[in-house]
Order: sequence, then C-alpha cells, then structure tokens
Amino acid sequence: MLPVTDLHQALTLRPLREADLPMLHDWLNRPHLVQWWGGEAARPSLAQVLAEYAPAALAQDRVTPYIALLGNTPIGYAQSYVALGSGGGWWEDETDPGVRGIDQSLADPALLGQGLGTRLVRTLVAQLFADPAVTRIQTDPSPDNGRAIRCYEKAGFRAVRVVETPDGPALYMLCERP
Ligand SMILES: CC(C)(COP(=O)(O)OP(=O)(O)OC[C@H]1O[C@@H](n2cnc3c(N)ncnc32)[C@H](O)[C@@H]1OP(=O)(O)O)[C@@H](O)C(=O)NCCC(=O)NCCS
Repeated sequence: MLPVTDLHQALTLRPLREADLPMLHDWLNRPHLVQWWGGEAARPSLAQVLAEYAPAALAQDRVTPYIALLGNTPIGYAQSYVALGSGGGWWEDETDPGVRGIDQSLADPALLGQGLGTRLVRTLVAQLFADPAVTRIQTDPSPDNGRAIRCYEKAGFRAVRVVETPDGPALYMLCERP
C-alpha cells in the first residue's frame, strides 16, 4: 500500500476484485482490525479470505464488498448487505427487504481518527440510498468501539439499542433515508 500523503484527495468506493484478496488478507490480520473484526479467534488465513471474501461467494449471502480509495490508493474495506434473510441467527426480527447493513475498516492504523472513516461511511450511505429500494441503513459496532460509534454518529446514524448477535453484543444503529 502506498503511503497517503494528501488526506484531501477524493474518497471513492469501487467493487472488490479477486486480485484484492491477498491485500485484504494482510489488512484483516492487522491488530487494529483483528480487535474489532471478530477477535483473535476469527483471524483469517489466506485460504479463508480467498474462499470467503471472493465477490461471488459474498454475493451468495447478498453481501457486496468494496475497496475504499483515497485518490488512487486503497485505504480500506467496506461491505454492505441485505439484512432480511441474512441467516445464521443474524437480524432474525427484520421484515423490511429495503434494509441494508454496512461494515467498514481503514487499513492503515496511522490514518485512524482523521475523519476518513466518516467520509467513507457518508460515501457508502449515499451510494446505497441512490437505490430507491433502500429504506434504511443499519450498522452494529461493538458497544466498546467508541471510535466507530462516534464515526457512525457523525455520518448520520443514531444508536437504537444494544442487541445480541451471533458475534456477541452490538450497538444497533440506524440511518434513515434523508
Ligand atoms: C472505525 C473506523 C472506520 C472509523 O474511522 P476513523 O477515520 O478512525 O473515524 P473518524 O476520524 O471519522 O471519527 C472518529 C471519531 O471518534 C472519536 N474517537 C476516537 N476514539 C474514541 C473513543 N475511544 N471513544 C469515543 N470517541 C472516540 C474521534 O475523536 C472522532 O470524533 P470527533 O471527530 O468528534 O473528534 C476506523 O477507526 C477503523 O477502521 N477502526 C479499526 C477497525 C474498526 O473498528 N472497524 C469498525 C468495525 S464496526
């Protein structure tokens, strides 16, 4: 990954490609992501990332993966998903097919806390709401992840309640269509 020298470059999202998967494997094993992306027990091998994050595999679960770019430099991973019918104990009370969920992480720990996550979330939210079928966007940070929660609040989400998920307690947050 090239060093980012200008934080004011345009932040965009492009679809994740198969060729990005070794880079994603590196990112998902960095301590600042491991801490909030399933913990040590979920630290993925390259084989797992190649199998589980391949765009075609994610599409089967109605998950859409993205690479965030600052200028031309990849700076993070994001994904959106259809909440209804997620399976595996996720979002079983959801009845609205228009609800999307999002997750994201910045790859370089040196870039945290400088507003890039908020820009990433705003970009993804705007992209999702461009689809008239999308009614609401949800996210589910750990209740202990104060930085992610504050980032989502700045990007227009409000905390609803703490919920139990298959990954443990999460703060269920919603962003309504503007
Ligand atoms: C979560 C993440 C995407 C947010 O992006 P970011 O660029 O760091 O966030 P921003 O700089 O846009 O906003 C962070 C805000 O949280 C605040 N903050 C930082 N640490 C905090 C803490 N421990 N408690 C409360 N607020 C905190 C910052 O001051 C800032 O708010 P401010 O602008 O009002 O001062 C990024 O930090 C990240 O990738 N973290 C590691 C992985 C992760 O947690 N992923 C999310 C899983 S849900």
